[in-house]
Amino acid sequence: MDNGVAIARQTHAANEVGSAQVNSGHAPTARLTTPRFALRERSRQEHEATEAAFAPFDISRPDHYRAFLTAHATALPRLELAVTGRGWSSWQPRYPFIADDLAALDAPLPVPMIASDASPVAAWGVQYVLEGSKLGGRMLSARLPHGSPCRYLAAAADMSARWQEFCAALDAEAALGGPGWLDEATEAAIETFQTFRRAADALAGDLP
Ligand code: HEM
Repeated sequence: MDNGVAIARQTHAANEVGSAQVNSGHAPTARLTTPRFALRERSRQEHEATEAAFAPFDISRPDHYRAFLTAHATALPRLELAVTGRGWSSWQPRYPFIADDLAALDAPLPVPMIASDASPVAAWGVQYVLEGSKLGGRMLSARLPHGSPCRYLAAAADMSARWQEFCAALDAEAALGGPGWLDEATEAAIETFQTFRRAADALAGDLP
């Protein structure tokens, strides 16, 4: 997982399209950024802390993989319920995938954690985290032993295209929103990371 953190940082650096350095010649260098990149910057520490919370799960081990999926299945349902029908019109829930994976591993579905209801603006922040988590999932699924059930972590063929679509939709929505849009979306993104982190911490304590 430490390895994963290092790769995450490299991939983030390679993914800087959308933010730009602008220098007028005499003014100090200013950094222009889109709402999506601002959201990433503002929640970067939360992502790092969430990665760290999942670091104890060695998903190449079946027992740890079960616990990893159980943690995600604890956090996910209420968050997904809160944003269904809100935010991105192409958004799709992934709870059915994780339920299939857990069933294939003979693991029961856990009791879902409570998550706050999401306002129409907050839904974008929650969906930013849920959609973005697929990017790391692609990397994580490569660590699974061959034949592991991985509908939840496996990357769909159109994952990158959908992520770009989501980011464009988020930027368009933010442009329509008033002052405070980004703050509200950021707060929801941070709370969403924290929900996953609490789920990871709860399960990590029982890891063999
Ligand atoms: C478990 C360990 C994790 C690792 C190793 C990891 C790794 C990564 C990597 C490599 C990327 C960048 C992918 C790319 O740009 O192509 C990424 C992006 C992202 N991850 Fe994670 N991730 C982890 C957990 C999570 C979790 C649990 C969440 C949320 C619940 C999450 C949310 C995000 C978001 C929102 C982005 C997009 C950031 C942006 O570019 O705006 N990650 N992650």
